[in-house]
Amino acid sequence: MSNLSGQKIIVGVTGGIAAYKSCELIRRLADRGALVKVVMTPGAEAFVTPLTFQALSGSPVHTDLLDPEAEAGMGHIELARWADKIVIAPATANFLARLSQGRAEDLLSTVCLAAKADISVAPSMNQAMWINAATQKNLSLIEQLGINIVGPDSGDQACGDIGLGRMTEPMKIIAALELDSASNPLTGKKVVITAGPTLEALDPVRYLSNHSSGKMGYAIAMASVRAGAETVLVSGPVNLDCPLGVKRIEVTSCAEMQSAAMAEAAKADVFIATAAVADYRPEQASPQKIKKHGNEMAIKLVRNPDILAKVAALGDHLFCVGFAAESEKLIENASKKLISKNLNLIVANDISDQSIGFGSDENAVTLIGPDFELELGKSHKRLIARKILEVIGEEITK
Ligand code: PMT
Repeated sequence: MSNLSGQKIIVGVTGGIAAYKSCELIRRLADRGALVKVVMTPGAEAFVTPLTFQALSGSPVHTDLLDPEAEAGMGHIELARWADKIVIAPATANFLARLSQGRAEDLLSTVCLAAKADISVAPSMNQAMWINAATQKNLSLIEQLGINIVGPDSGDQACGDIGLGRMTEPMKIIAALELDSASNPLTGKKVVITAGPTLEALDPVRYLSNHSSGKMGYAIAMASVRAGAETVLVSGPVNLDCPLGVKRIEVTSCAEMQSAAMAEAAKADVFIATAAVADYRPEQASPQKIKKHGNEMAIKLVRNPDILAKVAALGDHLFCVGFAAESEKLIENASKKLISKNLNLIVANDISDQSIGFGSDENAVTLIGPDFELELGKSHKRLIARKILEVIGEEITK
């Protein structure tokens, strides 16, 4: 039986072409025994009629902020109190902007503002709108509010473009809702994550580093908080806000990352190393800006400590997960790291495909444990993060 059975779920439908997929979502939620009420924005009514959703949910559809039929004329409050969960699918760029600002100018945004229920959104929009900095800023604010973002997927779009922005398929949205409702083995555990690049100083103005954006590590931190874990993020310099509920320790060099990670991991249950740590650092960082001398310059580099291997050596109390960014022989090279660093799990990341891995919103990885391999196809880093934590949860309860 689905853990959504008996749950009171508001499906919010906003005005995007993917509104037709909400019909399938509502049907499948009802199949699972969920009690569904539908709230539509005026824009949504241009795509699907309220009658369709009424027939599928078996309940009148709500469209008006000022509802004379509601007992005290305050339908938004009654709906907000009723819901265990709210899922907005599709969520347009416009609606996400309203949600991020806490606006209350239509019934759906007002219900979201008044509700204590868990809120999930399944964004749906043209790919250019999705990558627009304004949309990404709104999404980051929404994440800060603890709202769960499911998707979007990439592929052909109704407008003829190809890219990220398609609403995630209804069954994947339901899987995300079920995962959120599941009792989670990570609840109450301490999870420490390293993320982003390290910067190794050459002099006061120059450094060696790499292209890690921190997106993968931050997505894991968000998923970890949602799973109920005490979450610590040891982060190299990135341009991302700290997710709500996460303790972030900002570091710059490998040496700083190592000391913060070792201190936090000593009392942790799970350690996940997503950081792209510089393997080498300049032997000496000059205290003064290095001046130009001739046409060539040699810098002597020395090996940085392997943070993950050192943390893994802290003891068996810790479930240790590494990432392996590989441009060839993905599985073979990642499997070697699993053994050489004494890990419980390694996430193999094929960085020869530039649309995934460093800096991108999407990833495609293979999870390799001592006795299993699990391939996770190309998907948003948020979804990959959730799946990785699901697998860790299963492994630590074995
Ligand atoms: O940050 P994003 O832009 O979202 O990109 C994500 C990512 C591509 C950086 C991430 O998914 C990833 O693959 N991270 C590991 C990159 C890497 O440096 O792999 P590696 O094969 O060099 O190292 C293997 C493991 O050892 C990693 O878990 C790494 O964090 C850890 N390590 C490596 C060297 C070192 N000195 N200390 C470490 O802890």
